[in-house]
Amino acid sequence: MPTGTSSFDVTATGVPRPGGSGRLAGHTVSRIGYGAMQLERLHGDRSAAVALLRRAVELGIDHIDTAQFYGNGFVNDVIREAIRPEDGVVVVTKIGADPDPGGPLPLRTAQRPEELRASVEDNLRSLGLDRLPVVNLRRLDAGPGIRAVGDQVVDLDDQLAVMTAMRDEGKIGAIGLGSVTLDGLRGALPAGIACVQNAYSLVTRADEDLVRLCAEEGVAWVPFFPLGSAFPQIPKVTDEPAVRDAAASIGCTPSQAGLAWLLRHAPNVLLIPGTANPGHLEANVAAGAIAFDDATLAALDSVPSRSADIRL
Ligand SMILES: NC(=O)c1ccc[n+]([C@@H]2O[C@H](COP(=O)([O-])OP(=O)(O)OC[C@H]3O[C@@H](n4cnc5c(N)ncnc54)[C@H](OP(=O)(O)O)[C@@H]3O)[C@@H](O)[C@H]2O)c1
Repeated sequence: MPTGTSSFDVTATGVPRPGGSGRLAGHTVSRIGYGAMQLERLHGDRSAAVALLRRAVELGIDHIDTAQFYGNGFVNDVIREAIRPEDGVVVVTKIGADPDPGGPLPLRTAQRPEELRASVEDNLRSLGLDRLPVVNLRRLDAGPGIRAVGDQVVDLDDQLAVMTAMRDEGKIGAIGLGSVTLDGLRGALPAGIACVQNAYSLVTRADEDLVRLCAEEGVAWVPFFPLGSAFPQIPKVTDEPAVRDAAASIGCTPSQAGLAWLLRHAPNVLLIPGTANPGHLEANVAAGAIAFDDATLAALDSVPSRSADIRL
């Protein structure tokens, strides 16, 4: 370890933390992590997927977001193969949907308490863990994406009852929530919520109230779609003229400017940008070192939210 650095400044493997350090469910993690959903695009090239995860660890990433329904278990399998206990990576998974390989979408809702329990067992098996460090309960209260119908409309309290039971049993270390409303989060806080994942980026900022509440409550805000995703129906950070101007003036890419703004926006932000491209992975990690002058920051802060343009 270099002189003058504390153990919080470097990962378990001694790498300086990109974006500095943040807190997640009692763990210290690098503020720049990795969202593994895009890895499913590498299902035909498993060794490339493993190499990408190894590169992430080398670059100082120790927070990886996944789900059993990413590539019908492929992504969890690759994580189990690539990530070693000594890497000190906090693997965060999510439940509330299950793989549906033959269906119209690759996933189907699985919100009922018995389905949540079965999904935790699936993740334990595929990740090869005795305990899942953090499990996000993906609610379907707020878009974008699939919504609950029929018996899949389940009261949050009934779900939290099974989540807390699984935490008491030691199957999960901490509970997170995804696609949740402000009132839903308020009601769930007494159960002990470690993190929230909602769709949020520099150009889709409808959830500012949730960001603030999370900051006040010591809950990590881990936005999904931090760049606007690969889905055409979601506004892209890189299409925003103010982001392009800022990137040009600083000498970084628009994606990097968008990620650096998120880090700057609130202290409880942890990032999980997704990529299947090793060059983009390096660029996303490098975004952790970008600083804005006051004028550039003000220009980015005043970009209007386009959350109403989300069509998914
Ligand atoms: N809780 C939930 O319900 C939920 C829902 C969705 C996603 N998630 C998680 O959130 C993570 C992030 O979301 P996401 O992956 O959908 O969207 P994202 O991070 O907003 O964007 C990913 C897209 O941006 C591209 N990209 C990434 N880095 C780039 C760079 N430096 N330069 C140019 N393009 C770049 C990727 O393409 P390349 O592969 O070509 O780089 C991909 O098309 C997911 O991976 C997943 O783990 C959670």
